[in-house]
Amino acid sequence: MTKPLQLLFSDPPLFWNKARNRFSSAHTRLQEERDQLLIGLAYANLCKAIYKTPKLKTAYAGKDILGEEALADFGFTVEDSLKGYFEGRADDLIRPYQEISSFDPNQFDVILIGEKNRKIKQKILDGLEGCDCLIFDLERAAALFSETLRSIKSKHFLSCLNSHKLAAIALALWLCPAEPVIIEAGAFQCGTTLFMAKFLHKMGKQPRIYALDTFQGIPKAKDEDKKYGFVFDEGIFTQAQLSKISKRLKKERVHEWITLVPGLIEETLPRILEKEKEISLLFLDTDQYAGTKSTLDLILPLSQQKPLTVIVDDTTLPGVNQAIVEALAKTPAFQRHSVFMNFDILIQATRQERFLFAMTRNGGSGR
Ligand SMILES: C[S@@+](CC[C@H](N)C(=O)[O-])C[C@H]1O[C@@H](n2cnc3c(N)ncnc32)[C@H](O)[C@@H]1O
Repeated sequence: MTKPLQLLFSDPPLFWNKARNRFSSAHTRLQEERDQLLIGLAYANLCKAIYKTPKLKTAYAGKDILGEEALADFGFTVEDSLKGYFEGRADDLIRPYQEISSFDPNQFDVILIGEKNRKIKQKILDGLEGCDCLIFDLERAAALFSETLRSIKSKHFLSCLNSHKLAAIALALWLCPAEPVIIEAGAFQCGTTLFMAKFLHKMGKQPRIYALDTFQGIPKAKDEDKKYGFVFDEGIFTQAQLSKISKRLKKERVHEWITLVPGLIEETLPRILEKEKEISLLFLDTDQYAGTKSTLDLILPLSQQKPLTVIVDDTTLPGVNQAIVEALAKTPAFQRHSVFMNFDILIQATRQERFLFAMTRNGGSGR
């Protein structure tokens, strides 16, 4: 009798890596690098905004960081005096870097982990135990980002966000606790909602996501929205149909984690907040004063002492900007940082250190 064929997997499966390198296109290979760069840039911008510094003294640990030079362009620098760090011995486990035991992590602001092999990664993390700098598993975060996008059908991915903004959302999700409650105020066709659900699921988290929208188009603009530039007014965003969105979410098998909440946010959000006492992430994307203002006024005061991350899109629109300024004047515990153009993050000033620390290892507890 012939023996059943046994496949032995290493981590990651070696034969798969070899086959992929042999048969995949240059585009596929570069795509992997680009995803690391996308996540790396979002992380660099967050660190630089929060620490108010243009440069971060950085070490790269592990052999699977792609595009270090481009990462250096983003402000992840290595000091001249530390050049020797790259001159590891030929028989070092983690090549071409120095042995982790002879490396002093406290000389750095940030350590980017770029190692796929789970055992080696664990060795690196063990070596960094108790160190004082930020440790970010760039390889893992970028791999999850790629896997998530690969798993979504293009025709279902009706998100308004560009890839930089999506990468910043991925970082905020990375930080969330194991069972996060997420509110998207202004969900439109739920393309970003779908991305969030899939990314969290791939991280092994069990989210409850509330997607709020009229699902019939944006409400009438207020005077605050009309001060300058383009005005998002009635008649825009009318393509979002609840029945089609439900079908798409079902086909992508994420419907169980997402509650679609039709109606004006001003009216629907208070009902959700009666049930959900702790919100982990608020993604605020209404493009208008009224929706932004009412959401922040309802949620920020409740979360002064709790770990909440708020991401707001289109913050250069006059109504959105005014709503943020007014809300923060009432809840000064929160501070505003720009991550990308017109894409801001609001977090408690006292939590900023912990916020970035929580991005270490496997997503941390999010606290
Ligand atoms: C820019 S789109 C949202 C895009 C979506 N977040 C994404 O990433 O694809 C803005 C949405 O906010 C909704 N909206 C704006 N103000 C609202 C309000 N006060 N109540 C309910 N929905 C609102 C609009 O109907 C529109 O669908």
